[in-house]
Amino acid sequence: MEDFMDLVLARHSCRSYSTRPVEEEKLRACLEAGRLAPSASNRQPWRFVVADTPAAAAGVARAAQAQGENRFTADCPVFIAITEEGERPDLAPIGKVKRQDYRPLDIGIAVAHICLMAQEQGLASCILGWYDEEAVREALGIPPGREVRVMIALGYAAEGETPPQKKRKPFDEAVRYVR
Ligand SMILES: Cc1cc2nc3c(=O)[nH]c(=O)nc-3n(C[C@H](O)[C@H](O)[C@H](O)COP(=O)(O)O)c2cc1C
Repeated sequence: MEDFMDLVLARHSCRSYSTRPVEEEKLRACLEAGRLAPSASNRQPWRFVVADTPAAAAGVARAAQAQGENRFTADCPVFIAITEEGERPDLAPIGKVKRQDYRPLDIGIAVAHICLMAQEQGLASCILGWYDEEAVREALGIPPGREVRVMIALGYAAEGETPPQKKRKPFDEAVRYVR
């Protein structure tokens, strides 16, 4: 897929996965796209913790379903949990001046890179905010106190999976020109 807008339009939250494993190089490309994302003061406040074996993915899938959500993750072969790293925001240069914690924003950009690269590779993805954080930590050996900010489910879409219709604010509601 060459055109960036095609990629943007095709990426969607996939909620039906095949158990087909993801090729190592495709997963690596997604992680590279995340690693190369921009961040405030180039702090790169992330660590991508990858579950790509059946046993590890099953543990994360259980954690993702622990609150009754995300049943579709059961067959998903890969999860990327993103932990928030780095100093307190008031210690980082931009955060100090702006008194803003840019880390979640930085992580959001990395997540977008990963999901768009996944789409480019013919993979499907779904960003996950619903999960039992303690259970994720336990499944992935993440130390206490290290926040799992978000996860990404990654794999091949199940045959016949139909992308949900894009529901977005109309352009004029989302955008205001000052001319
Ligand atoms: C931070 C964040 C958390 C999300 N958490 C979940 C989730 O736990 N389960 C889920 O099915 N979708 C989740 N989503 C997906 C959104 O529902 C989805 O992106 C939105 O409805 C737009 O649909 P689209 O991704 O298909 O374009 C999450 C998205 C974001 C950005």
